[in-house]
Amino acid sequence: MALIAPSLLAADFARLADEIAKVESGGATLLHLDVMDGHFVPNLTMGPPLVKSVRKVTKSIFDVHLMITDPDAYAAVFVDAGADMVSVHYEAARHLDRTLHLIQDRGAKAGVVLNPATPVWVLEDVLDVADYVLVMSVNPGFGGQKFIPNSLNKIRRLDSIRRERGLGFAIEIDGGVGPENVEAIVQAGCDWLVAGSSVFNSADPAQAVRSMQQTADSAVLARA
Ligand code: DX5
Ligand code: ZN
Repeated sequence: MALIAPSLLAADFARLADEIAKVESGGATLLHLDVMDGHFVPNLTMGPPLVKSVRKVTKSIFDVHLMITDPDAYAAVFVDAGADMVSVHYEAARHLDRTLHLIQDRGAKAGVVLNPATPVWVLEDVLDVADYVLVMSVNPGFGGQKFIPNSLNKIRRLDSIRRERGLGFAIEIDGGVGPENVEAIVQAGCDWLVAGSSVFNSADPAQAVRSMQQTADSAVLARA
């Protein structure tokens, strides 16, 4: 099973409840929320109050992606605001092992994120702790960027490590995902595909989710 996770970053923030309802009518059950602090990445987005507000309008799973300089200090706040999953950047966390455990102890799934220039091998000693690994397929900070093809190699590497070591972490990808690359991403071994502009900038976001999900489902069948 591979899931398309719409990223709210590309949605109309003035009408978030409607935007969420649209993608859910296309079958989405996993929503990606991008938190940026203007320091770790050159952009600012949402904080805990917004997560708390949208939590009231949907039962979908909230996948919160922290692009902030001090994720160790803020991860728990986002779990309390309603996140079901919280991911922190390898490049930002000073005490990654502690932070992953802290997220889990607070009741959420804990993920670790890799920037495009960060190799997979740095995660060797946390792969048995993390519930998922998020591979950035663009440099974080903005939606609508071009997919970096080397991300597929990173997905393949993670998938083979997962098999070799018999580990259960999920693999997620984020950035530049659209109808043209869903099949290759799923074939590489990815479980969750974040899609922002390819969903919300399309004329029919529900249909965009539905059709990418169908492509993902067929690729999973072909993979098995
Ligand atoms: C980028 C964010 C992404 C963004 C992806 O830093 O982490 O989640 O919303 O947007 P698209 O799908 O437009 O590349
Ligand atoms: Zn993201």
